[in-house]
Amino acid sequence: MGETIVSMNGICKYFPGVKALDNVQFELRSGEVMALLGENGAGKSTLMKILSGVYTRDAGTMDIFGKPYGDLLPKQAQQVGVAIIHQELNMCPHLTVTENMFLGREIQRGLCVDKRAMEKAAEQILSELKIDISPTDRVGDLPVSKQQMVEIAKALSIKARILIMDEPTSALTAKEIDELFRIIRKLREDGCGIVYISHRLEELQHIVDRVTIMRDGQYIMTANFQDLTMDQIITNMVGREIKEKFPRVECPRGEKVFEVRHLNAGRLVRDVSFSVYAGEIVGIAGLMGAGRTETTRAIFGVDPRTSGEILLDGKPISCKNPRQSIQSGVVLIPEDRKKDGLCTKLPIRKNIALPNLDLLCNKFGVISSRKESEMCDKAVADLRIKTPSVEVNASTLSGGNQQKVVVGKWLARKSRVVIFDEPTRGIDVAAKVEIYNIMNQLKQQGIAVICVSSELPEVMGIADRILVMCDGRITGEVMAKETTQSEILTLATQFENKFTVAAAEEE
Ligand SMILES: Nc1ncnc2c1ncn2[C@@H]1O[C@H](COP(=O)(O)OP(=O)(O)OP(=O)(O)O)[C@@H](O)[C@H]1O
Ligand SMILES: [Mg+2]
Repeated sequence: MGETIVSMNGICKYFPGVKALDNVQFELRSGEVMALLGENGAGKSTLMKILSGVYTRDAGTMDIFGKPYGDLLPKQAQQVGVAIIHQELNMCPHLTVTENMFLGREIQRGLCVDKRAMEKAAEQILSELKIDISPTDRVGDLPVSKQQMVEIAKALSIKARILIMDEPTSALTAKEIDELFRIIRKLREDGCGIVYISHRLEELQHIVDRVTIMRDGQYIMTANFQDLTMDQIITNMVGREIKEKFPRVECPRGEKVFEVRHLNAGRLVRDVSFSVYAGEIVGIAGLMGAGRTETTRAIFGVDPRTSGEILLDGKPISCKNPRQSIQSGVVLIPEDRKKDGLCTKLPIRKNIALPNLDLLCNKFGVISSRKESEMCDKAVADLRIKTPSVEVNASTLSGGNQQKVVVGKWLARKSRVVIFDEPTRGIDVAAKVEIYNIMNQLKQQGIAVICVSSELPEVMGIADRILVMCDGRITGEVMAKETTQSEILTLATQFENKFTVAAAEEE
């Protein structure tokens, strides 16, 4: 570990109604990976946005490579050698991978943009990272995990000496995470300082040298990772002990509530049939690209289906589009909250009220603002959404709190079937437990709960029964209490032909 390259002291940052950072200190040395940890809304992203020039601070000093900086602009920060991979994807979907990577710093030849040179440079970085994407692919056509890799490639193309990664792995496959760690180790050897923000605490052991912990906008501690136990880290983050990571409630299995019969949609939903009974949570496990999200979308009616029947309490229901599904009592909490789950430019109040207008309007179609406020206040209180008021735009919330709003809007109505797709992505340890408790409550109320998750400990810890998907089909069903990770993985790689087996091994 080398000399100090970043030193921030007494940093304060205020937003309307929120003291996001209160006298925070932060140090980064060359050749180290520093984890920045804290609950949702602790101020991690805000602190790093100050270091990368996105926000200006209200008080405090900031030295980078021994030089003090006042109000730093993003471009200046880049020139000094600071690159940031933001928590939420910041790509222009209609532009190509190359165009996104070089946005604002296009390579020029004379007066023209040198497209060939940029594509060559992009190609080189992508192949160095072993990312299987073409520089001419349109970013909007790529799956989320690939978009995330483009974001990483973009930061690396800047040749940063201080690299900030805000939740880089939340949408990556296991193989991509390994690649990322390989890259991080190499950058560390080259003397870069890396700030690593993640809620996936189990991955820290593979790469982290030191940790800085924040809580409620305040600095708590910095220590060598090896000197702390995981429990100590969690207790410092949360301010209390968390006893059970996966709280489980036992319920007797009741009647069959929900049933999907021979559902087909696109290439990745092939003859999917399953049932969910009252009093159980059904997990859906599988590798990335197994068709889990596609299945949830086909059920909810986002994507068209070619065939299949959906039944509630034994009777066929119509859910050809989300509107019909919601009316029939089926709701989906989608994987990509920013794109599909929220109107980020609207206040929390509107986000929660929008899908529930039928409950909030009187017979003349006028919205009752009293009912609306009650509904929103309840959601904020039940889910402990951290916000100064329900009037602030959803975009100003921390990542995890945005996710809570998406959950909150559906809990406000009485649904019969709630489908969660990766519900805890980007959510801190304590909030995860809150989400699990909500699932348990729904289960106790006899609501059919379906939960797609890429994290095996999570599905095994929270679901009662697990369906495993591979290549668009359900390849197995196991009881969570009796199964093992390796049994699930075996089922998750049961491809029909050799070509795809090779692809799975790649995963
Ligand atoms: N642009 C903004 N306008 C208003 N409030 C903001 C803005 N950005 C952040 N905040 C508030 O500042 C606090 C810290 O947010 P920040 O995004 O830094 O948290 P975080 O530690 O990154 O959380 P997470 O783990 O959920 O990403 C939160 O209360 C958030 O609502
Ligand atoms: Mg954040």
